[in-house]
Amino acid sequence: MRVGVIGFGNMGSAMAEGISRKIGKENVIVFDRDPERLRVARDSGFPVASDTSFLVRESDLLLLAVKPKDVRGVLETVREEIGNRIILSVAAGVSRGFLMEHSGTNRVVRLMPNINAFVGRAVIAVAWGEGVSEEERRRVEDILSGCGTLYPLPEELFDAFTALAGSGPAFVLSFIEALALAGLREGLPYGEALKIAVETVLGTAELLKASGLPPVEWMVRVASPGGTTVEGIKVLEERGFRGAVMECVAKTSEKARGLKV
Ligand SMILES: NC(=O)c1ccc[n+]([C@@H]2O[C@H](COP(=O)([O-])OP(=O)(O)OC[C@H]3O[C@@H](n4cnc5c(N)ncnc54)[C@H](OP(=O)(O)O)[C@@H]3O)[C@@H](O)[C@H]2O)c1
Repeated sequence: MRVGVIGFGNMGSAMAEGISRKIGKENVIVFDRDPERLRVARDSGFPVASDTSFLVRESDLLLLAVKPKDVRGVLETVREEIGNRIILSVAAGVSRGFLMEHSGTNRVVRLMPNINAFVGRAVIAVAWGEGVSEEERRRVEDILSGCGTLYPLPEELFDAFTALAGSGPAFVLSFIEALALAGLREGLPYGEALKIAVETVLGTAELLKASGLPPVEWMVRVASPGGTTVEGIKVLEERGFRGAVMECVAKTSEKARGLKV
């Protein structure tokens, strides 16, 4: 199985890394119209194609990782040559209907991954096109498992997922950066504070995942009655931390809904 990646930007490169964990870099061929991105792909060990036609001919499966506004152009370019190949798209706001209409095939898969695909830890929403058989689904699932965990999702929930998981790493990074700065303010060297913040977030996420308990159960185990932690939580509540996060995701979701091409 050879996968052709069109667009080697932030997400294309993350997905290429993830997929290569399953099938090897030699089977992930890349095309990007930006020669600099193509050079980065070559330097990272991926075979590169000189144009989209060559890429399609050399691939069994196509992964579109261009901006939503560029999807139509790419589909129209590959339409004649697509044949029986399956098209995967990670573009926000681009429906299966749009992919089918402009590619002329119902062998399409809509995905919403996140940047954590770089380390094989993405969460990836997936909506299958009708033309993809059960056996092909299993093959595609296996290849994508190198990028992270798949979540089959009705298409009407993709905008919510885009906000929560697609953009989510940026929000979590913002929180980690804030923790590190807070550590610096309290007198820790920034590098140390950042390491401590990352490990604290990672460990807390692992604890939550392993226990299956809701966050509040652990919060009250950290915050002893009348103790120090609850003083900090009070500040977060006063400053509307949870409301701010909810509003942040709502605005992002609203923007994703408005992206429709
Ligand atoms: N970044 C994320 O964390 C994230 C998360 C979830 C989903 N996504 C989705 O992933 C897609 C890509 O986002 P990104 O952040 O990776 O964008 P990006 O960094 O701009 O990468 C897109 C790349 O595709 C190239 N490109 C555009 N049209 C092309 C064409 N016709 N043929 C070949 N290459 C072409 C672009 O070149 P130019 O620069 O010359 O245009 C650019 O190098 C988007 O649809 C987005 O919704 C991204």
